[in-house]
Amino acid sequence: MKKIIIIGACGQIGTELVLNLRVKHGNDNVYAADLHADCPEKLVGGPYVQMDILKKEEVRDFIISEEISEVYLLAALLSATAEKNPAFAWQLNMDGLFTILDLAKEGYLDKIFWPSSIAVFGPTTPQRNTPQLTVMEPTTVYGISKQAGERWCEYYFNNYGVDVRSIRYPGLISYTSLPGGGTTDYAVDIFYQAKLGNDFSCFLAEDTALPMMYMEDAIRATIELMEAPKENVNIRSSYNLSGCSFSPKEISDEIKKHIPDFDISYTPDFRQEIADTWPGSIDDSRAREDWAWQERYDLSMLVKTMLDNVDVNMISEI
Ligand code: NAD
Ligand code: SER
Repeated sequence: MKKIIIIGACGQIGTELVLNLRVKHGNDNVYAADLHADCPEKLVGGPYVQMDILKKEEVRDFIISEEISEVYLLAALLSATAEKNPAFAWQLNMDGLFTILDLAKEGYLDKIFWPSSIAVFGPTTPQRNTPQLTVMEPTTVYGISKQAGERWCEYYFNNYGVDVRSIRYPGLISYTSLPGGGTTDYAVDIFYQAKLGNDFSCFLAEDTALPMMYMEDAIRATIELMEAPKENVNIRSSYNLSGCSFSPKEISDEIKKHIPDFDISYTPDFRQEIADTWPGSIDDSRAREDWAWQERYDLSMLVKTMLDNVDVNMISEI
């Protein structure tokens, strides 16, 4: 059995990815790693290690000594948080990637998953049905780090044969853990307020449509890409991926079908400027052609699933 590590395992994606990979590969073969000293309750079913991706030698020693063969590198600062500390965001988002790419280049790893984002696009990118190959002039440090990361992934594949695979995730919507400081976080927060019976003040304007995806689709896409035959993975920068696109008004209208009294107001803040540079929808035909990607959740399924499952106690805990 191969051994896998997910670095940044306690975050919004990591929590669900670890659980899914443990079902597939066995609890003992899937390590969860994150900064926190204690393993979160959701991840206690398998090995957990406290790890700082910026401590290069410790990361290398662990991966080599435990004979890990696959890394999912999720540790990063997301778009909104990164803008508050650009220098550190650049360091975290880039240095960790090099540590893992170099381990693969030296022959210690068979495969790497590293996520990119719709943030690689910018104000000069075509906004609708954004193509896989297009103008990319990101204006946020997060977007710049993801675009640079994509270039380095492709470089390591072309020059050293490193099997690194990547998806440009849209905004991800889930209920098992809270989002970590992105521009799309409103589309998760809104469900907690709706379920609490509160009105919701949105930090984006009502008509700001962004590409989004329900987490189950994102996890399935990640695993499908990682399991695809090597020769089918023709894009070694990062794949466009589309779930459903919606604006704050459209998601609130859908919530109102279940909670008619729900009300939303709009108070755009600095995240509006970020959102204004991102696409409204994505063309993911390359993912469909290369590894048969097909989303399952549309907006109405996503909203029903979230309303059925969000636990409002999670936000009272923070
Ligand atoms: P998150 O902020 O929820 O989780 C990130 C995790 O990384 C946290 O648990 C954090 O403690 C950990 N971490 C931070 N610094 C670390 C370090 N030095 N060493 C080890 N762990 C560290 O983020 P997420 O939403 O799960 O995103 C994971 C990845 O997916 C990121 O690269 C992000 O850019 C990308 N992505 C996410 C989305 C989304 O909507 N969630 C969209 C596009 C791309
Ligand atoms: N959801 C992420 C963010 O808003 C997109 O990468 O930062």
